Amino acid sequence: MKYRILGRTGLKVSIIGIGGGGPTQMGQKTGVDQAGVNRLVQRALDLGINFFDTAAAYGESETILGNALKGVPRDDYILATKFHAHHHRNDERMSPEDVVDSVERSLKRLQVDYVDVMQLHGVRPHHYSDAIERLWPTVERLKDQGKFGFIGVSETYAEDHKHEMFSMALADDLFDTAMVGYNLLSPTPEHEVLPMCQERDVGVICMVAVRRALARPDVLKERIAYAKDKGLIARDALEDEDPLGWLVKGDVASLPAAGYKYVNAHPAMGVVLSGTANIDHLEENVKAILGPPLPDEDVARLRSIFGDVWEPLGN
Ligand SMILES: NC(=O)c1ccc[n+]([C@@H]2O[C@H](COP(=O)([O-])OP(=O)(O)OC[C@H]3O[C@@H](n4cnc5c(N)ncnc54)[C@H](OP(=O)(O)O)[C@@H]3O)[C@@H](O)[C@H]2O)c1
Repeated sequence: MKYRILGRTGLKVSIIGIGGGGPTQMGQKTGVDQAGVNRLVQRALDLGINFFDTAAAYGESETILGNALKGVPRDDYILATKFHAHHHRNDERMSPEDVVDSVERSLKRLQVDYVDVMQLHGVRPHHYSDAIERLWPTVERLKDQGKFGFIGVSETYAEDHKHEMFSMALADDLFDTAMVGYNLLSPTPEHEVLPMCQERDVGVICMVAVRRALARPDVLKERIAYAKDKGLIARDALEDEDPLGWLVKGDVASLPAAGYKYVNAHPAMGVVLSGTANIDHLEENVKAILGPPLPDEDVARLRSIFGDVWEPLGN
């Protein structure tokens, strides 16, 4: 495994971490049971992975992860979880008491005394100021009490096309980490978000590097057709069938491999999450990320096609 320092947290993180949400949700949505997740987590640790991300809102993900990590020395892994400042479905504002309850519940479910990184989950741009004004004192108090070591924030990849929340959050400079929606179909964080993180030494956690579009050929085909129809990319930029097949060659075994390699190569990168509960996929992804990056000419071609596409094609 290779490791990096996660920005100002100083945490030494493996360059690939396990994501407990997304389309897999720690196996909950792909039929992997607790025993299967236990094997996945053990394999991840054996491969040198030390970073695990989850959230209060991912169904039973925290409980499943907590069970799988039971008995592993606490210093051997880094845990990140999240709470919502506003309800993700109905926008209801969470009170300071709700935040305390959510954090306590996360600790209980994860079976730990503290988590390393506590994140505000999927903060929408129009909620950002309200969340900070009402909840920041509570968040700081919980941190002072030792419930968590660092405070991060994640964006809403599918909604916040222009990364407006990060424009505010990075300007305020309150956060130690930023969970950024970034993939080869959505390289727009390269314009401002990633350079700002680098400048401010904010630890970058990459989400949705592969997601559905790079894992499922049918979804990719449909997204590329949509991008052409909407004029987001040129009609002749890519073939209709297998539009990104040209990336798969040499050291690049598959499109998911290309996806993880692409984001991992950015100089601002801290840890790239892989939201899989499938051991074979995990092994492939580790191999991809530890191997050589994509060829420069392929990266340049991707940037020329998708560099200014602000819609989340990779969802
Ligand atoms: N707003 C937020 O805070 C937010 C939003 C989204 C995500 N996140 C976090 O970021 C993490 C990563 O995002 P993500 O879950 O979208 O992860 P991802 O790693 O980009 O994509 C996961 C998807 O790719 C598939 N996949 C992975 N490796 C594969 C391979 N080698 N071959 C074929 N398919 C493969 C997985 O299926 P299999 O399970 O079959 O491998 C799963 O469907 C989440 O788990 C969550 O922790 C946070």
